[in-house]
Amino acid sequence: MQIIIHESPEKLAQSAAQWVQALLIKKTKPVLGLATGSTPIKLYKVLVEKHQRGELSFADVKTFNLDEYFDIDAKNPQSYRSFMKQHLFDHVDINPSNTFLPTCKKGQDPREQGLAYEKEIKEAGGIDLQILGIGGNGHIGFNEPSSSLRSRTRIKTLTQQTLKDNSRLFTPGEYQPTLAMTMGIATILDAKYVMLMATGKQKATAVKQMITGGVSANCPASVLQMHENAVIFLDKEAASELDDHEYYEWANEQNNKLNESLGFFHNF
Ligand code: GLP
Repeated sequence: MQIIIHESPEKLAQSAAQWVQALLIKKTKPVLGLATGSTPIKLYKVLVEKHQRGELSFADVKTFNLDEYFDIDAKNPQSYRSFMKQHLFDHVDINPSNTFLPTCKKGQDPREQGLAYEKEIKEAGGIDLQILGIGGNGHIGFNEPSSSLRSRTRIKTLTQQTLKDNSRLFTPGEYQPTLAMTMGIATILDAKYVMLMATGKQKATAVKQMITGGVSANCPASVLQMHENAVIFLDKEAASELDDHEYYEWANEQNNKLNESLGFFHNF
């Protein structure tokens, strides 16, 4: 894992956007894995600004979101489709038919829907770069603690903690779904590059467990220790429980020098 600690969430978003930009420029038909939640909003804002300045086009991009609430109408403002439209899709030149979310309606078989999503990802050539946030309990996507480390896209019951954490996004009395379709942990691990972003003190314990704890279904994000190309973007608060700041900084300096000599993101 490469661990990059930034001064602020704003600087983090700028730096994460450079990774996305590198992929979009280098690859002919890039496939981007997207996340929702409050953390990636700043990144999407930077990407939209880059697009508006003519620096970035999404015309040939395909996107696959990590998750979506079960049985939610795409037009419902709480749906992750609406979130993506509000923060990215409606502001860039992406073809809506190239944007995918793992949906499942009541009456449909979630197993079949999960398999169909996996097939769509495969047919697109796999995900080049998966953007991730992290839950306060270490979840990625909606892979809650105890999720199988070899799981694929499926339906999951959200934990009480996740429901409580996300209740801030619902008005009192508004229906809050308790089930979601989510890419599995194995689906996420299949992405060529994985980029996890975490900001704020409320993420510090999960971040420490992800980076320095053992690989465990108890902290699904810890599985990134097994990924070939995982980069973790943190702000100072999210990194506040880590001990090895100096080493991470030193390693990044060396990495940057190496990348400069080889060409940035030569693997994309
Ligand atoms: C949600 C999403 C995750 C996200 C996480 C953290 O439940 N399913 O993909 O990473 O919670 O969200 P936030 O960035 O708002 O803290």
